[in-house]
Order: sequence, then structure tokens, then C-alpha cells
Amino acid sequence: MPLSGAPSLRVRLVRWVSPLVWRLPGHAARKLHDFAGAEHGSMLELRAAARLTSSPERQALYLRHALDESRHAALFTRRSTTLRQSAGRASLGLPRAQPEELFERLGEVDFVAHVHRAERHGREQFEVYAALFGRFGDAQTRALFEGILADERRHESYSWALLVSLTGDEALAKRTLARAAWRGAWAEWRRLGRAMGQRLYVLLMLTLYASLAPLALLVRVLQPAARGWKTEP
Ligand SMILES: [Fe+2]
Ligand SMILES: [Fe+2]
Repeated sequence: MPLSGAPSLRVRLVRWVSPLVWRLPGHAARKLHDFAGAEHGSMLELRAAARLTSSPERQALYLRHALDESRHAALFTRRSTTLRQSAGRASLGLPRAQPEELFERLGEVDFVAHVHRAERHGREQFEVYAALFGRFGDAQTRALFEGILADERRHESYSWALLVSLTGDEALAKRTLARAAWRGAWAEWRRLGRAMGQRLYVLLMLTLYASLAPLALLVRVLQPAARGWKTEP
């Protein structure tokens, strides 16, 4: 797949929101730590893929990729810690991630499509952040993103070539990628639904309590509660 082209809606949104969001106090350190967690999670999935694939060539590719993601996790963690400490705060510690067992659940072809899609999204996002930190005058964070981007472009490129070779041709690879996009959108929708559901519940309960408060007050005024133990007649 070509590495350039018209920016997607997602990229345009990231470009629009990032200059505001990354200026929030403490946001950069937290976000870099989140990235470290995501890189660590990718490393776990790739190690599992290397263990489970039937091909020694693909095992080598996955292991090399896992090493890169492990290094990225360490780089993001270190930068996050530096930013936290320069603000007089404690490090957020080592990144944690729960393996999602993607290779087992999806099978190798869909797993590779998932990897390619994630790498493309990561590369697009990091390009925005590298340029942003350049404009902020933060040369170190910019260099961090630029260095990692070189690896992400390679991951994006090899995973596309691998997907084409596993599916047999480009048309089938694109169809597999479209399936991965639908699966990703559905997972994101459910995640948002869960988050919104919890917030909606809290909001509904607060509204209910607030609307019932005057009624409860009226009942108390009209029927003052009896004090002391009640006795049966
Ligand atoms: Fe990475
Ligand atoms: Fe990557």
C-alpha cells in the first residue's frame, strides 16, 4: 500500500486536536506512557505470533518486529519519566499490557492485516506528533518520534508485502484489510459504547437525585420524621 496520499479524517482530526491537547499540563508524559503500553502490547502479540507460526521465515520477521516494539516501549517510557521528573513528579513506571491473543483468535492472515493497519495508523499519528514537537521547540521529543518512525515505516511496508504473499494477490490483501478495518471499527464502537454507558448511568442517576430532591424536602416538611423508637399500637 502507498505510504502517502490524501490525509484521512482520522489524521485530520489528530492534526486539529493535538496542538491543544499536548499543551495540557502532564499530558505529554501520560500519553508517551500510554504509547509505551501500546508498544509493549504489540511486542507480546508478535512474540506469540513467532511462537505459533508454521513458517521459520515469518517467525524471524515477527521476532525482529517484536524487538523493535520492545525498544520503542523502553524509549517512550524513558522520555515519559524524564518529563515527569522535570515537573517534580514520580515516574509512571514500566508499561503494562494484557495480551489479546490476536494470532490465536484471528488466524495468521487476519493477524497480519491487523498488524499492517495498526502500523499505518501509528505511522500517520507519529508523523503529526514529530512535526508538532518541532513547532513546540522540543527537539528531544521530536527526535524520539522521528527515530521510531523509521521503524514504523519498515513495519508498515513489510507487513503489506507479507499480507500480499499470504493472500496471493493485492486485491485479496485489500479485501482482508477492509475486513480488519470493519473489525477495528466494531471493536472501537463497543469500547466507546461501554465508556459512554457508564457515564450515561452516572448522569442519569445524578439527574434523578437532583429532580427528586425538592420532593423529598417537601415530604420532610409535611411529615416530620418521628424521633425515638416507634412502639406498636
Ligand atoms: Fe512501534
Ligand atoms: Fe511498529
